[in-house]
Amino acid sequence: MGTKTLPELIGRPESAAPVFLAPMAGVTDLPFRALCASMGADFTYTEMVSAKGLSYGGKNSFALLETAAEERPCGVQLFGSEPAVMADMARMLSERYVGQLAVIDINMGCPARKITSNREGSALMLDPLRASRIISAVVKASSLPVTVKFRKGYDQTRANAPEFARMAEESGASAVTVHGRTREQMYAGKADWDSIAAVKRMVKIPVIGNGDVFSGADAAALLKHTGCDGVMVARGAQGNPFLFSEIKAALRGQLYEGPSDARRIETAILHVKAHVAHKGERAVIEMRKHAAWYVRGMKDSAFVRARINACATAGELCAVLAAYERTLLQGSDDFGDRR
Ligand SMILES: Cc1cc2nc3c(=O)[nH]c(=O)nc-3n(C[C@H](O)[C@H](O)[C@H](O)COP(=O)(O)O)c2cc1C
Repeated sequence: MGTKTLPELIGRPESAAPVFLAPMAGVTDLPFRALCASMGADFTYTEMVSAKGLSYGGKNSFALLETAAEERPCGVQLFGSEPAVMADMARMLSERYVGQLAVIDINMGCPARKITSNREGSALMLDPLRASRIISAVVKASSLPVTVKFRKGYDQTRANAPEFARMAEESGASAVTVHGRTREQMYAGKADWDSIAAVKRMVKIPVIGNGDVFSGADAAALLKHTGCDGVMVARGAQGNPFLFSEIKAALRGQLYEGPSDARRIETAILHVKAHVAHKGERAVIEMRKHAAWYVRGMKDSAFVRARINACATAGELCAVLAAYERTLLQGSDDFGDRR
């Protein structure tokens, strides 16, 4: 069997260069993924899920696996360091989540100390032998295609992304995603798109480029610079699910008119409602950060952010957003005490 193209792999034959919503722990939950999918994301990934957590039957880990109809299905991202546990969970997922999951992605890029200290995430870039055993075991156990997400390297002196990608390919991965920063950089500095281009030259399997895509023009530039097969967006989508429509338009060479501030705020309100409908009223706390992202850059947004962070219920949060929208639209005095 030959190498599948990226559109074939994710079941989106209509998308020549698919656009992915990146996995983001604490951000890419079901309501946010559904919203991004409805705005043009070709493919979405769950937050990273602990293979060990799943193997213990952890309720929180299983809760991360719920998917939305809009995702037509999505990818699950697993993290772990034990090949046998990773393989058992991959088998379980591909058997039990038929029609909901299309891809199993393995996290080999997370920089957080609590992950790397367990030899998981980006620590695996320092241990390609173990990484290879994990990938081979997962590929063998799963009936779904397996992808691997990693970084430019662990640090600048060990920037081994091309060799690591070759190892992933030889171990049976169907595609790789490369974030052009080292573990040492965490999220600072600029993503090195040359490192993504070097990976693309090294392997035959599809390569998804990731790092610093905040606009349609960025996505087109990343594809052009690296020659990669798809593009993945993380922080740019926070509070801006419209980015997917913008990117799709840019890749088709079409003009794109961004949403008004009012439309952004109305989308934030819909997102709050979908979020609490799915996760319950208590989840309004985690929704505050999304709401604050939506209003970023708007007039007097620092003031409204402080109000958002004081909201204890979804009703309060929606009311603050609606009052802010009225202030912007009509110059009403709902936020009159702000100065
Ligand atoms: C809040 C947050 C959570 C993240 N969680 C994950 C994760 O669970 N798995 C993963 O592979 N990468 C994770 N990442 C990394 C992103 O997927 C992406 O590789 C990185 O942010 C670079 O892309 P960007 O420049 O578009 O933000 C996370 C990033 C952020 C900002």
